[in-house]
Amino acid sequence: MTFDSGLEAVVAAETVLSEVDGDAGRLILRGHRLQDIAGVRSLEWLIGELWRGLVPRDVGEAVLKRDLGAARAAAFGTITPFLPEASRLAPVEAVRLLVAAAPDCADDLPLRLTATVAVGLAAVLRYRCGEAPIPPDPTLGHAADFLRMLRGRTAASTETAALETYLLTATEHGLNASTFTTRVVASTQAGLASAVTAALCALKGPLHGGAPGPVIDMLDAIGTPANAEAWLDAAVLRGERLMGFGHRVYRVTDPRSDVVKRAVESLGRNTGRLHFAEHIERAALAVLVRRKPARSLQTNLEFYTALLLEALEVPRDAFTGVFAVARVAGWIAHAYEQLAVDRLIRPQSRYVGPLPTAA
Ligand code: CMC
Repeated sequence: MTFDSGLEAVVAAETVLSEVDGDAGRLILRGHRLQDIAGVRSLEWLIGELWRGLVPRDVGEAVLKRDLGAARAAAFGTITPFLPEASRLAPVEAVRLLVAAAPDCADDLPLRLTATVAVGLAAVLRYRCGEAPIPPDPTLGHAADFLRMLRGRTAASTETAALETYLLTATEHGLNASTFTTRVVASTQAGLASAVTAALCALKGPLHGGAPGPVIDMLDAIGTPANAEAWLDAAVLRGERLMGFGHRVYRVTDPRSDVVKRAVESLGRNTGRLHFAEHIERAALAVLVRRKPARSLQTNLEFYTALLLEALEVPRDAFTGVFAVARVAGWIAHAYEQLAVDRLIRPQSRYVGPLPTAA
């Protein structure tokens, strides 16, 4: 048996949900090219596409929009007792606590969990500032209502569209670490709330969904365009990873990066910040070509996600939580797909420790 520490050469699942083609720089979501649906379709539409035939419920776009709105309203009541404890944690850890509180046997868990992530994140961010959480408006789409609950005002249509584009882009992405975690837990038949809780634990790491907050830290630390090249070069020489760059699968381009960058541009605000980020991106890519010539390292989803969420006034420590608002629907689809496979995921380890001494 061969050993592969990062499992990169291992195909551990067959899926109808997405194809991440690293050589072509292409992402297909259940038969649709990302570029063809981002900015065109709603998040609820994509959730319906992903859940169709896997999650046992009506997944029509209008029905999902209605039922997800109702689930947000229900989640608001369910999470309230947990807010004092949750708001003492980092936002993504708070979401983890709120999701973990759902019993694996609850009714309509797919919608309940999807709703809990968005409602819980928005509520926690207000509660920790001493502001009253804002109840959901079940008539709104998920993206618009999330922004409204987060900021306490109705979002402009351009803002909702930009966030929706990001959420749609981040919903599903092959066998990334958190999705693999979901499938491992689902394969034990532990239940959906357990699988999603475990996925949140995997998502929060800085090499996965924890990257966008540190992207803003990096921009702040660099400070001025003149500093960029020297700062980035020194960081790479110290062995640090430049946040928002590199990907395990994509070799030529991460198609999500362009989509999210266009969403940032569509907001048409703070162009100075965007130009600064573009300068940092160019400098980082040049440093990576020079210092890591053996590896094709490109801008990934998280770089412009950070710019987008910053422009939408999301606190930077909550960026990973917003990633979860999207990705939870993908995890749920994978959990059901894995359940249908009905096979425990149980790889082997190779023992390299000492052998017992002969008696
Ligand atoms: N900055 C500097 N060096 C890097 C980077 C980076 N961002 N990414 C990879 N490398 C280097 C790495 O140090 C190694 O160098 P060497 O061969 O000299 O030791 C080489 O490239 C190959 O690294 P690797 O660990 O085999 O690469 P990987 O394919 O396992 O890493 C990654 C993928 C995403 C973990 C990595 O690129 C990284 O840490 N990026 C920064 C964190 C980040 O932006 N994460 C978000 C990923 S996209 C969102 C998602 O889907 O989760």
